[in-house]
Amino acid sequence: MSKRDFLDLSDAGGDAIAAMINDAQDRKLARRDWAKGKPDADAPLAGRVLAMIFEKSSTRTRVSFDMAMRQLGGSAMVMESGSMQLGRGESIADTARVLSRMVDAIMIRTDDHAKIEELAANASIPVINGLTDRSHPCQIVADLLTMIEHGKALPGLEVAWLGDGNNVLHSILEAAGLMKFNVRIGCPAGYEPEEEFVSMARAGGARVDIVQDAAQAASGADVVITDTWVSMGQEHAEAKLAAMQPFQVDTALMGHAKPDALFLHCLPAHPGEEVTSEVIEGPQSAVFDEAENRIHAQKSVLRWAFGQL
Ligand code: CP
Ligand code: NVA
Repeated sequence: MSKRDFLDLSDAGGDAIAAMINDAQDRKLARRDWAKGKPDADAPLAGRVLAMIFEKSSTRTRVSFDMAMRQLGGSAMVMESGSMQLGRGESIADTARVLSRMVDAIMIRTDDHAKIEELAANASIPVINGLTDRSHPCQIVADLLTMIEHGKALPGLEVAWLGDGNNVLHSILEAAGLMKFNVRIGCPAGYEPEEEFVSMARAGGARVDIVQDAAQAASGADVVITDTWVSMGQEHAEAKLAAMQPFQVDTALMGHAKPDALFLHCLPAHPGEEVTSEVIEGPQSAVFDEAENRIHAQKSVLRWAFGQL
C-alpha cells in the first residue's frame, strides 16, 4: 500500500471519512471516564511516533494530536519550525527525507499549502495537514463527529456559514460534496471562499448558496458555524472587520435557524466579534464538545493514515 497523506478531505474520500467518524464514536465510548492518557485497550499505534511541526500557533491541534497518539499507544513530539533547521533555510525536501528515516508520520501546520504538498511529495511516511491558509481538514472531521453526536445526520443537512470565506469553510465545502450536505454561506462581497471549493461541493451533489444577507444564510439551518474574522497571518484590517459586522452570530440571527440548530466554532473565538457571548455560551453551542472531539477525530485520521481504516 502506498503511504497515505491527509492534506485534504478528498485524500480519504467519503467512505473513509464515514469510517473515521464511526471509529471515533466507538473509541470515545469505549474509554469513557478513563484517565485521559491511558492507551486504548488495543493500542493500535503502539511504538509509532508522530512528529508535529508548527509554523503557526496552536492549542487544540497540538494537544489533540499529542493525546491522540498517547491514546493509540504511540507518542508524539512537537517542533516549532523556528527552532528547527527548517527555520534557518534547510529545505522542506531534506526535512521530509530526514524525518522519514526517524519517525513514522508528520503533522504540520503551516501557511502556504504548497509547503505541505512539497513535504508530502518528499516524505515516504504519511503527512497530515494540521491547517494551512487553504484548508483545515482535521478540524472538519471533528465537526462532522460533533454534528452526528448531536443527532444531525449528514445527508441533506443544512449548514449555515457566517463570515469570512476562509480555510475552515474550504474544508466544510469539501466535506459537503463528500458527505452530501448543503451549505449556505453568508459573507460580505469580496470575502467569498475560493471558487474551486464551491465547485468541488457542487460536483459532489451539495447545494451551495452564497448570499450577502446573514438572516437569509441562517434561515432554516440545522447547524450554524462561524470562525474568526482575522485568521492567523492576516492583518487586522478595519475595512474587513466593518464588512464582517453584519454577519456576527447573535441570538437574533440564531432565531432564523431551526429551533434545535447547533452552533459550532473551531475556536479560538473572539466573543463580541464573529459571535456574541450569549450564543457561544448558550444552550445551542457545542463548541467544547467540538474541541474535545479533535482528539477522537484525530485518532481516526491517524489510524486511516497508518492504513488501519
Ligand atoms: N481549532 C484549532 O485548530 O485550534 P488551534 O489553533 O488551537 O489548534
Ligand atoms: N481560520 C483560523 C482557524 C484557526 C484554527 C485561522 O486560520 O487562523
